[in-house]
Amino acid sequence: MKKWLVEELICPQCLDSENVLKLDIRTETEDDIIEGHLVCPQCKQVYEIHEGIAVVVPEQTLPIIQDATGYNSFSMLSSYLWSHYSEFFNGPDATDAYQKWARALDSKRSGWALDIGCSVGRLTFEMTKTHDRAVGLDTSISFVRAARELGAAKRLAFDLIMEGRITEKRTCDLDPAFGFDQAEFIVADAMALPFRSRRFSTVSSVNILEKVPDPLLHLAEANRVMVEKDARFLFSDPFSWDESVNSPELWLGGTNDGDFKGFGMDNICRLLQDPESVFSPGFAIRDMGQVLWKIRKTRNLWEHITSQFVVAHRAAMG
Ligand SMILES: C[S@@+](CC[C@H](N)C(=O)[O-])C[C@H]1O[C@@H](n2cnc3c(N)ncnc32)[C@H](O)[C@@H]1O
Repeated sequence: MKKWLVEELICPQCLDSENVLKLDIRTETEDDIIEGHLVCPQCKQVYEIHEGIAVVVPEQTLPIIQDATGYNSFSMLSSYLWSHYSEFFNGPDATDAYQKWARALDSKRSGWALDIGCSVGRLTFEMTKTHDRAVGLDTSISFVRAARELGAAKRLAFDLIMEGRITEKRTCDLDPAFGFDQAEFIVADAMALPFRSRRFSTVSSVNILEKVPDPLLHLAEANRVMVEKDARFLFSDPFSWDESVNSPELWLGGTNDGDFKGFGMDNICRLLQDPESVFSPGFAIRDMGQVLWKIRKTRNLWEHITSQFVVAHRAAMG
């Protein structure tokens, strides 16, 4: 983990008291901590840094990050590396979805950006073009490892699944305009962000809302870490609610009754503009639309997804 991130990290188990974690280094380079741990001075929870990857999640999140299936699987890595970077190796039918999300944030601004559920890091790297620093976080160690390796090598080399266990190598340089040294990736939970309140001037939540057990808590956490004045929020989601991921009582759309009946995007826009909601002190909507996004599973299997996005801005304090 890059040393510049250390003093920003707080204990995700003691969010109310915002305890800055104490660092103990075992192995380091000039800019990076390779092996070591972070400790909460209050609850004494220990967070490991191993092979450069910091895992800063509450205890109850550990089973998710230790699961070798799902987003930690080899097939997911192939799918997401294709999805994020196929433009750079001229993959046939490459998706330009990430360019479109990045363009929604294309004005230069000072401050730090946070990409929640960053996967293999494309949007985080894009955010380094417009921000002083960008941090990506995800519960998948495999994705975070891949994103860190991309940042270190400044190029991509991976095994793309053709069919079953048959793979082909894909290699390419990445955009030289990415600020590789300005980006860092950690393993963290979208529902317990290990950052001080009001730290980031821009936050993105792209295609993650429906994947977390408590979507409203994720939004509340995103709001907590955004600055009060001049904050920008990029939100995008396909709203494909799934009962095996989260309970319908916690969905923010896709139901016929309850506080969040109706369509998810309508409810997100309502929350964003309501100064009494989890987005207190309230945002104004700047842009809305759809991004056609693709995930490639094998050479014959693609998922075509419409992700609805909104860019919101909070100009002033409440
Ligand atoms: C559908 S993918 C989208 C990834 C990326 N934002 C994109 O659009 O390509 C959802 C991502 O959220 C991550 N994720 C799921 N639950 C999470 C949580 N509680 N905290 C942080 N990341 C999570 C997954 O590991 C995965 O990378």
